Amino acid sequence: MKIKILAIESSCDDTSAAIVSDDGIILSNIIANQNVHIKYGGVVPELASRAHQQNIIPVVKFALEESKINKSDLNAIAYTRGPGLMGSLLVGTSFAKSLALALNIPIIEVNHLDAHIFANFIKEKISQKIPSFPFLCLTVSGGHTQISIVKSFSEIEIIGKTIDDAAGEAFDKTAKILGLPYPGGPLIDKYAKIGNPYAFKFAQPNIKDFDFSFSGLKTSILYFIKNKLNENREFVNNNLNDICASVQNSIVEILINKMILAIKHTGINQIALAGGVSANSGLREAFLTLNSTNPNIQTYIPKIQYCTDNAAMVAITAYYKYIDNKFGSQVDAPYSRQSTTNN
Ligand code: KG4
Ligand code: ZN
Repeated sequence: MKIKILAIESSCDDTSAAIVSDDGIILSNIIANQNVHIKYGGVVPELASRAHQQNIIPVVKFALEESKINKSDLNAIAYTRGPGLMGSLLVGTSFAKSLALALNIPIIEVNHLDAHIFANFIKEKISQKIPSFPFLCLTVSGGHTQISIVKSFSEIEIIGKTIDDAAGEAFDKTAKILGLPYPGGPLIDKYAKIGNPYAFKFAQPNIKDFDFSFSGLKTSILYFIKNKLNENREFVNNNLNDICASVQNSIVEILINKMILAIKHTGINQIALAGGVSANSGLREAFLTLNSTNPNIQTYIPKIQYCTDNAAMVAITAYYKYIDNKFGSQVDAPYSRQSTTNN
């Protein structure tokens, strides 16, 4: 079977287009980041949708050019249907539907969280190892934090999720407290690399089963910093690396401890990481060393470029939907809220 699918991701503030080909090989993955949000300290939805409108045509053009594919070679157009910012989703959705109509080919709708999970199936060469079902997945992004049992491409059981902030928000809100620009996660990661993770201790949540909570940690960090700044106005400047390393260590500990609990409870030894926060070097390292406690554990983490929002993850999810004959319809409307689908 010869497959060529163009996928579009526009759920938040990155405009991305990718091409997937036979055997699930990604031929191109173009991402345009939006710098307009930096000065506002967070994503401004109206500015995001306008930037998507400006970026989408050149991004798709580059993706086609890089993969040396003609529009006429495409078998389907895939797009992120939700969850995400409605204005942003509408740009990708309308573009995908129009192009599919013009080319007279089917569309495939993809759930953003499913796409993060199936980023673990992205192959750059045929021999690449991918997970087999069932596996446990820890999805950690700017809007979601959850542990799921992934039973097949269409059956995902969420067994735990955050009851307040997402892990990415914990990074971003801490960065804000420290006066760092948005998105703070990558910067905290950068400073943490040269800091002492045990320099400062913050409150650890006590939440049942596989659920998470990060708002207590955020408050603990906020009051800690306020008190220290009252004693010494230069506290953050003088201790930035150690603060970042200690915060990162606390977040990673919360995530890893829940994952260990889920492995013990389910007896599933194949584990995967997904979502923007899985780009974090501390989390990647802790995740990879989980099998030092149990040599049977097999770990999967997407390459860094497939962790934060990208269209390659939409393309690979669409590839398996295409094989399964799971096509969307022109009347499918985008949705802003919803966790992983069971479609
Ligand atoms: O998956 P994603 O790109 O967008 C959403 O679907 O939310 O995740 C974005 C989140 C942001 O909170 C960002 O700060 C965080 O991922 N992030 C990181 C790192 N890279 C991105 N957090 C910690 N360390 C990183 N290296
Ligand atoms: Zn995402």
